[in-house]
Amino acid sequence: MAQHVCPVWIGYFLASPIRRLFENPEKILGPYVKEGMKVLDVGSAMGFFSLPLAELVGLTGMVICVDLQEKMLKSLEKRALKKGLRDRLKTRVCGQNNLGLDDLANSIDFALASAVVHEVPDAAAFFADIYAALKPGANFLVAEPKGHVTSKEFEKTVSIAEQAGFIAENIHVQGRSRIVLLNK
Ligand SMILES: C[S@@+](CC[C@H](N)C(=O)[O-])C[C@H]1O[C@@H](n2cnc3c(N)ncnc32)[C@H](O)[C@@H]1O
Repeated sequence: MAQHVCPVWIGYFLASPIRRLFENPEKILGPYVKEGMKVLDVGSAMGFFSLPLAELVGLTGMVICVDLQEKMLKSLEKRALKKGLRDRLKTRVCGQNNLGLDDLANSIDFALASAVVHEVPDAAAFFADIYAALKPGANFLVAEPKGHVTSKEFEKTVSIAEQAGFIAENIHVQGRSRIVLLNK
């Protein structure tokens, strides 16, 4: 069955700076992302997290933003250009069941999927794709909105991630999100 996918008009709200008041990207990502890292923002939409990630990785790092919807990525590219961050960011349109990351095998230092997994039809394939792209020992932070995803559904997500090979290190609730830190 086709999953509900976040419409582009909601993408504008998700990228609003007001969201920073209750979800601070630097606070959430700062402990994991360092200068020079190559990071993946899966389901990036218009870049609420991608632009702070680009700041965190600095001039020598790179953020690869993957999304199903080209319109989201076009808007993200414009925002990155305005902030002088375009050179630190690559965008890729993916398929619903294939993230198209084969060329990145074992090369990613950190990955993020915020409010994405509940929209993905095949979570097992999704986690397998990201597992293959990460370097051994790298972290993958998964956040899901409490309002859309029950604790039972989130447990199921964590168990699918574990079946893909991840070790779930820290499952918790922070603000409006259920969060798990996965380690390869
Ligand atoms: C609710 S938005 C979250 C956007 C962003 N991560 C954030 O936290 O603001 C979900 C995004 O995931 C994308 N998406 C949905 N299904 C996807 C899939 N199977 N593969 C990659 N991206 C997907 C949607 O196009 C949308 O941009």
